[in-house]
Amino acid sequence: MPRTDNDTWDLATSVGATATMVAAARAVASKADNPLIDDRFAEPLVRAVGVDFLTRWVTGDLVAADVDDDESSWKLEQMPDAMAVRTRFFDAFFAEATRAGIRQAVILASGLDARAYRLDWPAGMTVFEVDQPEVIAFKTNTLAGLGAEPTADRRAVGVDLRHDWPAALIGAGFDTSQPTAWIAEGLLGYLPPDAQDRLLDNISALSANGSQLATEAIPDMPEVDRERAREAMRKATEKWRAHGFGLEFSELGYEGDRNDVAAYLGTLGWHSTGRPMSDLLADNRLPPVPQTNDSVSMADTIYYTSSK
Ligand SMILES: C[S@@+](CC[C@H](N)C(=O)[O-])C[C@H]1O[C@@H](n2cnc3c(N)ncnc32)[C@H](O)[C@@H]1O
Repeated sequence: MPRTDNDTWDLATSVGATATMVAAARAVASKADNPLIDDRFAEPLVRAVGVDFLTRWVTGDLVAADVDDDESSWKLEQMPDAMAVRTRFFDAFFAEATRAGIRQAVILASGLDARAYRLDWPAGMTVFEVDQPEVIAFKTNTLAGLGAEPTADRRAVGVDLRHDWPAALIGAGFDTSQPTAWIAEGLLGYLPPDAQDRLLDNISALSANGSQLATEAIPDMPEVDRERAREAMRKATEKWRAHGFGLEFSELGYEGDRNDVAAYLGTLGWHSTGRPMSDLLADNRLPPVPQTNDSVSMADTIYYTSSK
């Protein structure tokens, strides 16, 4: 179903299911030989959501290579490596920010991110998580049921990021006078271009000097034919559908020209540096993800670190 302005979801549907999918990739990556990450909450969270295809992937009953389309550049098989290096990027960002003395963090679009339970936060740390109400309530309740305890003062904020989320954040105790470490991991492509700009405006307005922001952004690649890219994605997911996972990925993101994150933040007084996922994979001695002109590949995704 195409997206609408006020659509909502849980972790098994629409954009919410992408959170379960990336958590499943983290669970698979955590079980690899010599794993790069250890997200011990990912598997129980994915199991609790209960999307059969993703549960079977996590338990090893479904093998990614058996459900991927050979010719497509979108492969389930590539996701554990990609999500492992992405996890390490954002984990390292928080480690650096807290070393610099920041004691307030905001995880935007937190999905099944378990950093508020998994990372070794310093004393006095407050971690806000923002996502759709059903998504955030599910994670809070599931982890409580598993006996997991947050490793910081965790504040869950259930609100849509297209709405007045700053008011909800401040209502949950966010302190605008303190520098903040923000992350937006796997979010921007799911926001309409103008909502992305508003999100960055709001982050900037809420950020005291010394704040930092890490984002994941899909680059503007004019050479990519959008209709062909949609077709490539549909082809990739056709086989997944045949195995019971019917998410229509080509309808979840927003196309259209959008501002470059670094350039836009630059107009708001932030300084940014960015690295593509292909670099993060190479840093971690992992094989490259193929890049083709028929779609924007995972390898092209850019990871920005910005400071104010
Ligand atoms: C790909 S998942 C990423 C989740 C998490 N950051 C991670 O990497 O594991 C996308 C997340 O964005 C959230 N999201 C997307 N659009 C949103 C919106 N308008 N308001 C609140 N949350 C949103 C979804 O609910 C989902 O949890």
